[in-house]
Amino acid sequence: MNILQQHSLQSCNTLAVDVMADNFVVVNNDDDLLAALAFATEQSLPVLLLGGGSNIVLREDFKGLVIQLDTKGISFVSEGEDVDVTARAGENWHNFVLYCLENGAYGLENLALIPGNIGAAPIQNIGAYGVELTDCFYSLRGWHCERQEWLTLTKQDCEFAYRDSIFKNSLKDQFIITDVTLRLSRIAKPQYHYHALEQYLQSCNIVEPTPSQVADAVIAIRSQKLPSPSDIPNAGSFFKNPVIDKAKLTAIQINHPEVVHYLQKNGGYKLAAGWLLEQAGWKGKSIGRIAMHTEQALVLVNRGGTGLEIAQFAKDIQADISSKFSIELEIEPRLY
Ligand code: FAD
Ligand code: EPU
Repeated sequence: MNILQQHSLQSCNTLAVDVMADNFVVVNNDDDLLAALAFATEQSLPVLLLGGGSNIVLREDFKGLVIQLDTKGISFVSEGEDVDVTARAGENWHNFVLYCLENGAYGLENLALIPGNIGAAPIQNIGAYGVELTDCFYSLRGWHCERQEWLTLTKQDCEFAYRDSIFKNSLKDQFIITDVTLRLSRIAKPQYHYHALEQYLQSCNIVEPTPSQVADAVIAIRSQKLPSPSDIPNAGSFFKNPVIDKAKLTAIQINHPEVVHYLQKNGGYKLAAGWLLEQAGWKGKSIGRIAMHTEQALVLVNRGGTGLEIAQFAKDIQADISSKFSIELEIEPRLY
């Protein structure tokens, strides 16, 4: 285990913010993970766990130990129609999706091309194009830092919701996910009724898509809509889509009858935050070195700014949306 001092984190976060970690270590097995945690405890250092760095905003230098989990390994256990696939936290999510497809394990097609690693996927219950991780999640294993023990958590334990889980709430900073098991299917059951996906498939004259065709379509749509972090540093959607009640929706519809909204199972209405931002004039708008993307108003892009500039820009947007629509936008990535 090689603990580096004064290590730049610029290449470790997709917003490409240049901050330093006092201590930085890459771990590729469980023993090294526990040794790194013991080092942090001995030195009284806070710990920041890092996967692909695609959902974090680093506002300042980290005066502690950054642990980048780079554990690898994927295993399959088949029984009848089901195939339980277990992957180690450091596996790249998108490569994992393709690997499952190639090996006839279906269910993850709609989640192709989401950046980041397996270990972070349960944190915000990643989702796209009509599917969320919870739809095929079975269990996960990890280290409970306070209890100092390995635990296996079931789907119910994880309290998954829209861009949310127990790991953002009562287990925040308490649990390190080391392995994730998904229950996939040997039988293809493509989900393609998400509007943009269905439209795209129709435009290709595909009526009953195979799982690979769904994955290819998702990859094509995402490549058109979302800037690649290697070209333009970003963290995907910067705000969650807000869920509001009927009264608030009716109030917005007075001036904006065309407002994009989706009825939720709990009776609330999910609005497209990208629509709110576009209406408020934020699409393509920049302040200094930070901007909202010209093609997707929900994606904040960083043109060489600092984490503090990003956080201030986000606050300006939140205040503006609050004053124009009485809606409090919630930031999606984790701020450090
Ligand atoms: P990181 O950014 O490294 O970490 C995120 C958080 O999880 C941090 O708080 C970190 O401490 C914690 N964490 C990481 N690994 C572990 C672990 N093993 N155990 C415990 N805690 C851990 N998200 C979606 O849901 N849907 C999308 O469609 C989507 N599209 C995106 C598109 C782009 C271009 C980008 C840049 C991001 C997008 N995201 C999307 C967000 C992001 O890809 C996901 O949230 C992803 O799961 C983050 O993985 P990561 O490894 O990069 O996590
Ligand atoms: N819209 C606008 N202007 C914009 C952008 C969007 O008006 O500039 C409106 C359009 O009406 C569009 C609607 O918003 O129909 C929805 O847009 P899109 O399909 O691009 O999805 P999104 O709500 O912006 C969400 C997720 C994405 C996920 C896509 C596809 C959140 C916060 N974001 O984006 O996830 O990939 O749906 O399912 O839920 C992420 O979390 O980082 C992420 C990229």
